[in-house]
Amino acid sequence: MSALDAVRARQSWSKVGDTAPGREELVTLIGAAGRVADHSSLRPWRLIELRGQDREALGAAIAEAQGDAEPSAKPLRAPLLIAVVVSYRASEKVPRWEQEAVASGVAHVLSLLLDEAGWGVIWRTGQYTRSEPVARMHGLGPDEELLGWLYVGAKPEGKSPGRRKTVDARALLTRPPRLSPEARAAAEAAAREAEKQKAEKAEKKARKRAKKKEKKKAKKAAKKTRS
Ligand SMILES: Cc1cc2nc3c(=O)[nH]c(=O)nc-3n(C[C@H](O)[C@H](O)[C@H](O)COP(=O)(O)O)c2cc1C
Repeated sequence: MSALDAVRARQSWSKVGDTAPGREELVTLIGAAGRVADHSSLRPWRLIELRGQDREALGAAIAEAQGDAEPSAKPLRAPLLIAVVVSYRASEKVPRWEQEAVASGVAHVLSLLLDEAGWGVIWRTGQYTRSEPVARMHGLGPDEELLGWLYVGAKPEGKSPGRRKTVDARALLTRPPRLSPEARAAAEAAAREAEKQKAEKAEKKARKRAKKKEKKKAKKAAKKTRS
């Protein structure tokens, strides 16, 4: 199947059966999904597989987050949940939103590959997704956040996942607005002014830092002379 056909055929399955892909199959698919575009190759993501009682632990964490007395049954809707984690890396070049885009890309491609392999998948989230009890249950680090879970199971036989909305690609693919020469000149001048102000601010900051350093040095020298 071509990538075009696979993407056209993909649909989310909100109800799935009790079987799920094993770890080895997942490893193969994740190895491929991890090939998404990744600025500076930071690999700012990881996945956590939740099976069996892990899902009950998630149900308890959801209840804690929502202040409910009973554990949530939501995670029991599929035999396998794959938690999608964005693991932010320190980078001057790649901001956090770009790193989320990478983790999100991995989840989308993995959904597609699972679908193509015959598994039913749906990406789900909830108000509790970024709550403390849920983060704790997944063992997230301080620089990690969840993007939700891929619920994975068997596609129910003889059932269709429901109708899929069509995409009006012509309306969604546009060109930038055309500017008049005057408007373009004004936009360029504004951009230049913003750059200038940015440079001035950085220079001021550097001067302040140098002055502070100088002051500290003088203080240290004076102290040394006194002693
Ligand atoms: C980040 C994210 C979170 C989502 N959360 C939910 C959710 O909590 N519940 C839900 O029914 N669908 C959720 N969806 C949408 C479904 O995954 C799915 O795309 C939707 O049901 C449409 O089906 P389709 O993928 O077949 O077009 C989410 C999608 C994304 C990308």
